Amino acid sequence: MPQPKPSHHDVVAIIDYGSQTSQLITRRVREANVYGVLVPWDIAAEELRLLKPAGVILSGGPSSVYDEDAPTLPGVVLELGVPVLGICYGMQLLAKALGGQVAAAQNREYGQAELVNEQNSPLFEGLGDRLQVWMSHGDRIETLPDGFGVLAHSANTPIAAMADETRRLYGLQFHPEVAHTPRGSEILANFIRICGCRGDWGPGSFIEEHVADIRQTVGDGKVVCGVSGGVDSSVVAALVHRAIGKQLTAVFVDNGLMRKNEVAETNARYRAMLGESYISVDASERFLRELAGVTDPEEKRKIIGRVFIEVFEEQARQIGGVDYLAQGTLYPDVIESASTTKSAARIKSHHNVGGLPERMHLKLIEPLRFLFKDEVRQVGLALGLPEEMVYRTPFPGPGLAVRIIGEITRERLATLREADAIVREEIAAAGLGREIWQYFAVLTPLRSVGVMGDSRTYADVVAVRAITSQDAMTADWARLPYEVLARISSRIVNEVQQVNRVVYDITTKPPATIEWE
Ligand code: XMP
Repeated sequence: MPQPKPSHHDVVAIIDYGSQTSQLITRRVREANVYGVLVPWDIAAEELRLLKPAGVILSGGPSSVYDEDAPTLPGVVLELGVPVLGICYGMQLLAKALGGQVAAAQNREYGQAELVNEQNSPLFEGLGDRLQVWMSHGDRIETLPDGFGVLAHSANTPIAAMADETRRLYGLQFHPEVAHTPRGSEILANFIRICGCRGDWGPGSFIEEHVADIRQTVGDGKVVCGVSGGVDSSVVAALVHRAIGKQLTAVFVDNGLMRKNEVAETNARYRAMLGESYISVDASERFLRELAGVTDPEEKRKIIGRVFIEVFEEQARQIGGVDYLAQGTLYPDVIESASTTKSAARIKSHHNVGGLPERMHLKLIEPLRFLFKDEVRQVGLALGLPEEMVYRTPFPGPGLAVRIIGEITRERLATLREADAIVREEIAAAGLGREIWQYFAVLTPLRSVGVMGDSRTYADVVAVRAITSQDAMTADWARLPYEVLARISSRIVNEVQQVNRVVYDITTKPPATIEWE
């Protein structure tokens, strides 16, 4: 897993032993305004030293310390002389490395437990005598290593927390990072204080550090960046622009597949943000020509991806002398592509201009590659991006092409744009915009019979899709109030000429996907 450059902020390294919650630990540390960085357990000693961590947290993991190929504790962790906090598997590793005894438990222990504090440890400062915690472990500590004392127990776990306060080494048998440990963040904040961290990491300092870094890296070179109107690419462009001004060219490609008014709004926002560094390319004719007659979903995606790269590459050549490509890669992508357990359901990224860096000998700048999505939004707000951009709901790269089932024509695009605008207006008017992950209209290839006045109609069927989700990997259909659905339906059939029927999609993901294509 690639690691960030050393930061002038305090860093806490989180060593990943494969727990589902390793990312969550990283996020909790960052919520305490300290730069938490997730590193693999087999990180080279030199790499870890370079990060100059003020403290180390060992995550949980599915292994047992006595398994034959169980991940181990890198020797360098204890040589650094900084505070160490082992969580679950991390605690057991720490105990074993220091001469304690770990016993394989007969039964795994899961669930809520009440923790009883036995000591006044700085780790539990301000937390009182009893705490609700979330246990999830198989093995447990049988004998403490020399120098350690018991900090707390629970009904089933005699050593639920341990510490060697002199060496500032700590172990927790429960998970402080999960919501089921309501005051867990305070425990982590206490650990961070024990590490002596200043807690000065945040959007402002991130911007400062990266502006300086980009300036230094780029020198008087030129940078291009593809912008889509979405939050990631917009934040990258704004950050790079703040660093190097006119040396940046941000390119927006209008593929003719955007929603109603979206191109004009996007252009206006980017012009205000980036001034002369922004160019908007109207390639809609070209995309629609290449898509004519195509109905297969994968074929559509491939054409759109290819034409996008062609157009972008032409622009980059016109600018000339470009050295760098700036991209909005985020931390979860970095972590995921480094992990061996890649999720099969990766979200396809359209604005990843595959192949271009090699062909044009461009070097990559990816300033967001150590940030989570909500942190990117915070940086966006701190850079002064408008809220509509920072909180824009996800919109697929292939745009309305994957929401028109069947052939894409200008007429059908116009129909879908009108219907979709009504869905968006009504959901916004009902104040539901923030709780619904995505909401849109889909133009089906169906026509159905209707009646209008005294005459029979035979017109398009539009489907409405509104879903709730945490991460787009799974989704549920939104229980929209009937009145909102009624208004959407009646407005669409009244205001959009070619449509005489509206249906609501009540399918979860899986087995359906969010988009229809
Ligand atoms: P599905 O339809 O697979 O979508 O459930 C999951 C999420 O990804 C978005 N999506 C895309 N985003 N390029 C993108 O940039 C694409 O080709 C693409 N296809 C789907 C979709 O809107 C949802 O948020």
